Parts: sequence; C-alpha cells; structure tokens
Amino acid sequence: MTAQDGAGAAAHGAPWRVRPAMAADADALCALEAAVFGTRSWGADSVRSSIGAPGVRVILGESRAAPGPETRVRETPVEAPSAQGFVIWRSLGVEAEILTLGVLAAVRRAGLGAALLAAAADAARAAGVRRMFLEVDAGNPAAFSLYRRGGYVETGLRKGYYRDGADAVIMARDL
Ligand SMILES: CC(C)(COP(=O)(O)OP(=O)(O)OC[C@H]1O[C@@H](n2cnc3c(N)ncnc32)[C@H](O)[C@@H]1OP(=O)(O)O)[C@@H](O)C(=O)NCCC(=O)NCCS
Repeated sequence: MTAQDGAGAAAHGAPWRVRPAMAADADALCALEAAVFGTRSWGADSVRSSIGAPGVRVILGESRAAPGPETRVRETPVEAPSAQGFVIWRSLGVEAEILTLGVLAAVRRAGLGAALLAAAADAARAAGVRRMFLEVDAGNPAAFSLYRRGGYVETGLRKGYYRDGADAVIMARDL
C-alpha cells in the first residue's frame, strides 16, 4: 500500500467498509449506478453483467454505522447497510483499468470515493497488477481531483471520447 491508498479513508475517519459485490447485489448495484450517473448510466444489463464477468471486479462501499441504543430499545429489525458507492475495475494482466466509480450525491465529500479507489488499487495489486489506468471526463473536476489525490497522473487526452462529445483525460499510476 502507498501513502495515497490509505489517505482517503483514514483522513475521513474511515466510516466506510468496502467489500466485493456478489450476484445478490445486482439489483442494488444497478439502482446505485443509475442514481449516480443518470443519462450517462451504462444501463442495467451492462451493470448487472459486470458482476462475475471475466477479469472484472465490482467493489461496493457501505456505511459502517452501527445500530444505536434506540434501535435496541424499539426492537425493530435493523436494516442492513446499503451500498452508497461502487467501483468497477478490470484486470488486463499486469495492467488494469478503472471502468467506473461513483458515490451517491447525499454522501459525497466524506471519503467514500477515495476509499473505493484505494480498495481497487489494493485488490489489483494483490492480483499482480503493476499499473492502473482510467479515463476521466476533462470537465469533471471532482473526479479529476479524486484521482490526482489517489496518485494518478495525466498520460494522454482522447478528444470527443464520450457519447456527448466530451474529452477524456487518460490517467495512470503504478501500484
Ligand atoms: C467523483 C466522486 C466519485 C467523488 O466521490 P467522493 O466520495 O465525494 O470523494 P471523497 O470524499 O473521497 O473525496 C476525495 C477527494 O476527491 C476530491 N474531490 C471530491 N469531490 C470533489 C469536489 N466536488 N470538488 C473538488 N474536489 C473533490 C478532493 O480532493 C477530495 O479530498 P478532500 O475532501 O480531502 O478535499 C463523486 O463526486 C461522484 O460519484 N461523482 C459522480 C460520478 C463520477 O463523476 N464518477 C467519476 C467518473 S467515472
């Protein structure tokens, strides 16, 4: 792990837990991805098929909030923590790429994006990946800043990469 990997979660008190998505998470992942990306969503079929696809890994981020005393007094069932962020990455051998990453608007700026990015790096490193790539919309300062903070540096530009004509910045980091 590098300084960048631990920084996001630790600096924000690490209120998040991250875990691999399972088949049972497919509906929640589809809803989450659609809520985050709106008209730029991959679509439910593509999101669903990412879970278990060869070389593709899906990581979910959930709140660590534990049930408080009032929950015990009321004896009501405690809702399982629901996913509030996700990252999907794909291994290409010694290289890998972040395919998509998102956090629900209501919980942004609380360290989950950084925690997910670090979790993907950790998992990729453990799988033998040496270098991670990603593309980011040149007009997305939040994502750009997240990735810079995570140790990614610009390596190229793809003009008109996105369907709406926006340019993509290629970024990469060694693991
Ligand atoms: C980009 C995104 C994933 C960030 O998630 P997040 O949980 O809010 O990020 P974090 O709280 O972990 O922030 C980590 C760092 O990223 C940067 N950052 C995050 N949001 C930012 C914003 N709105 N403006 C500027 N910098 C921002 C900051 O450097 C931040 O560190 P700091 O809070 O100590 O200043 C989230 O805004 C999002 O889901 N956006 C919509 C989907 C998207 O654009 N995905 C990425 C492209 S695939």
